[in-house]
Amino acid sequence: MSFVSQSTKKKYSIAMDGPVGAGKSTLARMCAKALGFIYIDTGALYRAIGLYCYKNNIQVESESCVINSLDNIKIALEKGDGQQRVILNGEDVSDDIRLPEVSMKASAVSAIPKVREFLLDMQRDFAKTENVIMDGRDIGTVVLPNADLKIFITTKAEIRAKRRYDELIQKGINTTFEEVLADLNTRDYNDSHRKVAPLKQAEDAYLIDTGNMDLQRSFEFTLSFIKEKLGLNV
Ligand code: DC
Repeated sequence: MSFVSQSTKKKYSIAMDGPVGAGKSTLARMCAKALGFIYIDTGALYRAIGLYCYKNNIQVESESCVINSLDNIKIALEKGDGQQRVILNGEDVSDDIRLPEVSMKASAVSAIPKVREFLLDMQRDFAKTENVIMDGRDIGTVVLPNADLKIFITTKAEIRAKRRYDELIQKGINTTFEEVLADLNTRDYNDSHRKVAPLKQAEDAYLIDTGNMDLQRSFEFTLSFIKEKLGLNV
């Protein structure tokens, strides 16, 4: 995996975990930009594997089929238009990995221990050489247990589903609120009940509930929280 970066001097790592649709990716991206940190969306890595399985008719319910396909999967993260681009076997799949049918495949493959192992070193390598904000499910608990700051972002399922629904509609993806809520509940359940690295708040993570805040307010709150905790004057 590669990432075109500006700095090789490691200073800080921030873990931002939370369930589907809590706004953590958007917040992590905005905060990283404001701080001059690299933003790593680890969900995109699981999505890339989910997409590969989807496109190649690989049954995600079969661990061995998914594991056998890992040898054929090369994922790279690149920066383009100030956004993380996801390259799967040489093809930019940044948009395709966001399709709802891929979300469920990503959740399924993420429960397979070998898949998590496959992605673990790649994720850790980023934090060795960069100032990073990494978002995911197990960043504070497994990937970066010694992160300088851990934040767990969440709010009620209905609020998260409404946000995700609005996002999908805006992108022209045809769906209903009920479908989005059901999908979100299933993924929440799968992500927090799998045996390996389940979604949970690390003991030393700070909880931020974004339910009563719009995006701008959540951003301002989270950014000043990070600056205060890390003593940054950016
Ligand atoms: O954050 P997301 O919705 O793009 O993540 C897609 C799936 O990947 C999600 O269902 C859970 C999984 N995931 C994970 O298991 N661990 C991570 N660090 C990030 C995502």
